[in-house]
Amino acid sequence: MNNQINTAFLKRKEILSEATDSFRLFDGIGDGNSDFFIDVFAGHWLVSYLDKEPESVAKCELPRESLWFKKLDKNNKESARCEEGDSSNTQITIRENNVRYLVDLKIGYSQGIFLDQRDNRFEVRARSSGIRILNCFSYTCAFSVVAALGGAASTTSIDLSNSYLEWGKSNFELNGIDPNQDEHYFCRGDVFEWLRQFRKKQRKFGGIILDPPSFSRAGKQGVFSAEKDYSSLVTEAAHLIERGGWVLASCNHRGISSEKFGNELIIGMDNARRNIKTINQKPMTSDFPGDDYLKSFWIEIE
Ligand SMILES: C[S@@+](CC[C@H](N)C(=O)[O-])C[C@H]1O[C@@H](n2cnc3c(N)ncnc32)[C@H](O)[C@@H]1O
Repeated sequence: MNNQINTAFLKRKEILSEATDSFRLFDGIGDGNSDFFIDVFAGHWLVSYLDKEPESVAKCELPRESLWFKKLDKNNKESARCEEGDSSNTQITIRENNVRYLVDLKIGYSQGIFLDQRDNRFEVRARSSGIRILNCFSYTCAFSVVAALGGAASTTSIDLSNSYLEWGKSNFELNGIDPNQDEHYFCRGDVFEWLRQFRKKQRKFGGIILDPPSFSRAGKQGVFSAEKDYSSLVTEAAHLIERGGWVLASCNHRGISSEKFGNELIIGMDNARRNIKTINQKPMTSDFPGDDYLKSFWIEIE
C-alpha cells in the first residue's frame, strides 16, 4: 500500500501548487486498490473505505497535518474519525485554482466540496462573464462562487437545505464577495418547483448548472430519480435558457452510461423545443482515474 500511495502522489504532483492545495490523492481501483480512496484537503488526509478500515496509511512526500477515516455507506452517513493530528480542528479553508472554500473534515455526507468537479468549476468561471447563472442543486454554492468570481451578472443558487445555502454564503465571503448583494440569490426548496416559478415569471439565464443527486425526495414531485427524471429536469431548465446560453449537466449515477445520459439530454431539450448548437462530454478530472462515474456534458443552445 505504501508504494501505491507514493506512486499515486507522483502522478498528481503537478496539481498541487500555490493555487490548489486539495485533490484526490488515491482513487481506489484507478490507483490499484479498490478498498479505499484518499482526499487531501490542504494537508489534511481523509481516507474513505468500503468495508475494513485500513490498518495504517503510509505517508508519502506530501506533508500530513491530520488523518481521518470515514466508512463509505450509502444509507448511513457516518462522520469521520480522527486517527492522527488535532481532532478539534475540523473546519478548515482550502484553495482550488485560487478560490477558497470552507471544508468540514468531520461532517457525515460530503466535506463541503466535490473535488471531482474541479475542471467544471474552472470552466464555469471562464464562461460566466456578464451573464445570469442558475445553479440547481447548489449544495455549498461552489459553482455560484466561481461564477461570481468570473464576473456573472447574477447568481441564483437553489438547494433543499438551508444550512448548505448558509455554508454557501460563507464560501462567497471567504472570496471577498458579499452574498447579501442584490445580484446573489439563495433559494431554499425543490428545484422543480423553483424552475416552474421562474418560468411563470419569465426569468431567463445565460448559464444553467444541473448537478442533482442520483435520488432525492422533495416537493410535489415526490421522488427524483436521475435515471427516470433527468430528461424532464432538462426540459424544465431549457425553458429558462436565453438564446445562445449554455447548460452544464452532470450525473454521478453509476447505473447510467454516458451514451444513455447524452440521449436523455437531447430528448429533454427536444421536448422544450430548444435547438442544441453543440454538445460535448468533458472527461473526469485527472486525479480520478478510477471508474468514469461522473458524466458531464456542456450544451450550447442556439
Ligand atoms: C450532488 S449534491 C450537489 C453538488 C453541487 N452541485 C456541487 O458541485 O457542489 C446534491 C445537492 O442537491 C440537494 N438536493 C437534493 N434534492 C433536491 C431538490 N429536489 N431540490 C433542491 N435541492 C436538492 C441536496 O441538498 C444537495 O445539496
